[in-house]
Amino acid sequence: MILPLPGNEAMAASLATRLDAELGVLECRRFPDGESYVRVVSDVSGKQVDLVCTLAAPDAQFLSLIFAGETVRELGATSVRLIAPYLAYMRQDARFSAGEAISSLHVARLLSRSFDAIITVDPHLHRRRSLDEIFAVPTAIVHAAPLLADWIARHVEEPVLIGPDRESEQWVAHVAERAGAPHAVAEKQRLGDKAVKVALPDLGAWRGRRPVLIDDIVSSGRTMVEAARALSALGMKKPYCLTVHALFAEDAYADLLGVAAQVISTDTIPHASNALSVADLVAAQALAPTP
Ligand code: R5P
Repeated sequence: MILPLPGNEAMAASLATRLDAELGVLECRRFPDGESYVRVVSDVSGKQVDLVCTLAAPDAQFLSLIFAGETVRELGATSVRLIAPYLAYMRQDARFSAGEAISSLHVARLLSRSFDAIITVDPHLHRRRSLDEIFAVPTAIVHAAPLLADWIARHVEEPVLIGPDRESEQWVAHVAERAGAPHAVAEKQRLGDKAVKVALPDLGAWRGRRPVLIDDIVSSGRTMVEAARALSALGMKKPYCLTVHALFAEDAYADLLGVAAQVISTDTIPHASNALSVADLVAAQALAPTP
């Protein structure tokens, strides 16, 4: 059974169709004082249940998600998996300043208590090599790189792919190889939540090509916007901007539309820029044996 948390109905329906699974019903609402109410409406007894919840607004969703996972288990499901196309909090993977919470660790611990396994799409792994370092239950990662690469190959003439920072190098190289395009990576310096500096490498060899900026997450949008501005300062064409997870906080989308030729994302988070669906890839992973 596929059981969506609110806001995840479209992805859940896509998955249920692809997996030939029953689409279950969960009721979630708020009490007048703001507490979360969760009711598992469908009969989950004896079933393998996949809860679908992309964690794009994690603080508002988290308690309902835990209540749902625990209740499905109490009601006799044989297994309770979480399909979280976007897994929040993974960027806070270190104590950057003294006393900071390493939130990725705490989120992983909490989810590991309430779910038997986790499936997600391109989690932000920087200082950690694997989700297994922080999750106590099996995890599986779906990679959206082929979707991005094939879109670029189909839609962009003479592209040059650009990753915004060094940590994106391997990922960008992989997308570029599949798209049959050259790639480069910029140097990024984060000065604050909404302030970054992006320095481009020498792009002289590819001046006539169409720049394609790719990043795993667009949140404040500053990384992509600053990279696009730097390209413009070099006299290059407006970039195509591709991302896996379209968080687009506040005015980020409008800001990016102002400097991009086109903005494209996958549907891990429902957003106006969604043009690529991860549903086939997630469904295939859901059918694979649990690692
Ligand atoms: C961070 O390392 C990620 O790969 C993204 O570059 C980052 O999350 C983008 O954030 P923002 O849109 O706020 O600049």
